[in-house]
Amino acid sequence: MSQTLNVAVLPGDGIGPEVTREALRVLRAAARWRECELNLSSYAVGGNALDRYGVPLPEATRQACQAADAVLLGAIGGPKWDSNTGDLRCEAALLGLRKLLGVYANLRPVYVHSALAARSPLGQDRVAGADILIVRELTGGIYFGAPRALRLQGTKRLGLNTMVYTEEEVARIARVAFTWARRRSGHVTSVDKANVLECSQLWRTVVGEVHAEEFPDVTLSHLYVDNAAMQLVLHPRAFDVILTGNLFGDILSDLAATLPGSLGLLPSASVGATVGLFEPVHGSAPDIVGQGRANPIGAILSAAMMLETLSEEAAARQVRRAVNLTLDQGIVTPDLGGTASTTTVGEAICEVAFGRHPAHAI
Ligand code: IPM
Ligand code: MG
Repeated sequence: MSQTLNVAVLPGDGIGPEVTREALRVLRAAARWRECELNLSSYAVGGNALDRYGVPLPEATRQACQAADAVLLGAIGGPKWDSNTGDLRCEAALLGLRKLLGVYANLRPVYVHSALAARSPLGQDRVAGADILIVRELTGGIYFGAPRALRLQGTKRLGLNTMVYTEEEVARIARVAFTWARRRSGHVTSVDKANVLECSQLWRTVVGEVHAEEFPDVTLSHLYVDNAAMQLVLHPRAFDVILTGNLFGDILSDLAATLPGSLGLLPSASVGATVGLFEPVHGSAPDIVGQGRANPIGAILSAAMMLETLSEEAAARQVRRAVNLTLDQGIVTPDLGGTASTTTVGEAICEVAFGRHPAHAI
């Protein structure tokens, strides 16, 4: 961050603003630590954008995101907008943003910190030390495939979606997974449904080709998605990088969130083009809004992934180290069995990572 860093901030709905506030606290402290300039501007997205502008992804938000160096998003959606359909669904904003920015690679790390393993519903012995990176294809597959429809066929209703991948789409996400595996433990598990779907047969073939031609030093295995779900629960430590398509990655990443015991811990980075999108994996959690109970760690670790993507590895490391220390000390929100508030956790992480600074408006 030797230069000025421009971040478009999309706090969103529900607990989104609460956790984003803590992620910004950490980003500001990181910028001070690095003595660089940080420009933060907030924009509407999701339900609050629907209320104010009638659309979930307003033009001003689209333009700001495209012009920024990175986008930090909180969470979107809530009961108020649940009955919206089509382009007026909150989810449409998220999918639209991913497509707009061209962020085809969604990185979802799942690490089971020792202090949390005991809380995992899967049992401490099974999950302690599990360290997985899910690399999910994010701008293709059945989420975006055409044709798609919800219509009448004669007098009967019909719903239609298309799972489609081109070989270029598979090859580029495979390269992301193999490249990460080289920086980690050197193993990729590619997950598909090649015993049934042609789309998956292409996936498996192309992943194998990219492996053989460009990454022979990395080890590769293939699993069918149903078996992968079972293996994730039974032997989570056997995984390093999981490479998979949009729909399977959506499902497996929520499943993997059971390993550390709370969805609130998990960050994500969506990258691949010029501007990255960084957001916690959790949703807007309408049931706990405004209570100061939301776990900010997913958002804070998303900010750390932003720092890392912007070549600020040292600052990212400080944040991760601070998160681990506060977990060790039991400074955690109620989802992890603690009594600390969202703000207390954010302040503690900030102070451990970058030292004490005079408070100022966030
Ligand atoms: C996720 C979410 C989104 C997805 C929804 C909110 C559209 O579940 O990021 O995992 O399905 O991709
Ligand atoms: Mg999901």
